[in-house]
Amino acid sequence: MPPSVKSLLRATYFRYAVGFLRSLVEKYWVFYSESLSKFGTVGAIAPSSVLLAKAMVKPLYHRSDHPISVLEVGPGTGVFTAEILKHLGFGDCFDIYELNSKFYDYLIHILDQQDLTEKGIYYHLHKSDIRSLKEPREYDFIISGLPFNSFDAQTVDEILRVLMSHLAPMGVFAYFEYSLPPKIRSYFLTSLERVRIQRTSVIMNQFIRKHQFHCDQVWWNLPPAKVRYCRRNLWA
Ligand SMILES: C[S@@+](CC[C@H](N)C(=O)[O-])C[C@H]1O[C@@H](n2cnc3c(N)ncnc32)[C@H](O)[C@@H]1O
Repeated sequence: MPPSVKSLLRATYFRYAVGFLRSLVEKYWVFYSESLSKFGTVGAIAPSSVLLAKAMVKPLYHRSDHPISVLEVGPGTGVFTAEILKHLGFGDCFDIYELNSKFYDYLIHILDQQDLTEKGIYYHLHKSDIRSLKEPREYDFIISGLPFNSFDAQTVDEILRVLMSHLAPMGVFAYFEYSLPPKIRSYFLTSLERVRIQRTSVIMNQFIRKHQFHCDQVWWNLPPAKVRYCRRNLWA
């Protein structure tokens, strides 16, 4: 190989590696600065793994050929967003709700708007609480990164009601929860926190009994997580 081609390849590789490292540092910086200051709404100790993201979008592998509408709630640093976008194309509609301004700004920065427009994906990133969702549409897929176990029972109830009322009759709602054994989890909790979690668990367990049709365990995540797939009406 001529030396000029070799040095060109080396320079390209170097630029790629630097770009990759910079985006990784940026992502972890945004994640940890927000996670430490707003743990109640972020509710995670690390960004989700790609394997968890793949499990979350599993229902999209069976999407119809017609345009679909997808809602993502609580994207954080966009790990699930990137995976969802791999399954979207011309005519599809994608709404994203993120409450946190820093994550919202980060998402604006990493989403390639020109590419999305060229692909014909109608996407809209909202900087708002999902409970303010006003879109009149029903979504074929709702993917949630929300930390339900960090919320109080009333917040969980309100959010689940909003999400279910916007899920199409045959639509799928996917969310995850960390699979920490109760003994380990309660070790880190105050007694007040334990009461809150018990109340939240009552709501979540009722919801699971009524709506869940499948569940997957993802070990390769920090901590390991369970993905739950739900429908509005299991017996339809
Ligand atoms: C567990 S983090 C998501 C982490 C993401 N999977 C990642 O790897 O970066 C949960 C996200 O939900 C957002 N969030 C919490 N409550 C929300 C609400 N009511 N409406 C919209 N977003 C919310 C938080 O700001 C946070 O970005």
